[in-house]
Amino acid sequence: MKNEQTKRILNQAVADLSQFSIVIHQTHWYMRGEGFLVYHPKMDEYMDDINERVDVVAERLITIGGSPYSTLEEFKTNTKIKDEPGTFDKSMVERIENLLEGYRYLADLFRQGIDITEEEDDIVSQDIFTSMKADFEKTIWMLSAELGKEPGL
Ligand SMILES: [Fe+2]
Repeated sequence: MKNEQTKRILNQAVADLSQFSIVIHQTHWYMRGEGFLVYHPKMDEYMDDINERVDVVAERLITIGGSPYSTLEEFKTNTKIKDEPGTFDKSMVERIENLLEGYRYLADLFRQGIDITEEEDDIVSQDIFTSMKADFEKTIWMLSAELGKEPGL
C-alpha cells in the first residue's frame, strides 16, 4: 500500500497523544506547591488541546483507510510515552520538565510524520503534522521560559 507508513505514524500519534493526555491529567491531579492555582487550570487547557488533536489525527487515519487504536490496552502497548503511578512528592519544576519531555518527543514524532507524508505524497496528513509541530514547539518555548531556559529546538 502506498500510504502504509503514513497510517503507521498517524496511529503512533493516536497512541502517544492518548497517553500524553493521561500524563497531563495525572499532573493536574497530583501537583502541589507554588503555582498550583495557575498550573492546575493550565493542565485542563493542555488536555482539551491534546484531546481535540487526537480526534483530528484518528479521523484523518480513518479517512485514508486506516483503523485508529481505540482501547486503553492498545494505547498502552503502542505508546512510547512513559507513565508511573501518581505521587504528591514531585516539585513543580519536575512536573514541567516531565511535560516538556512529552512535548519534545511528540514534536519529534511529528517531524517524522512530516518526512513520511512527504515520501508518500499525502499533503493533508502532512499539514496536520506541520501545524501540530508548530503549536507544540510554541508550548515547548513557553514551558522552557517558565523554567528560565531556552526552548532548545
Ligand atoms: Fe480537574
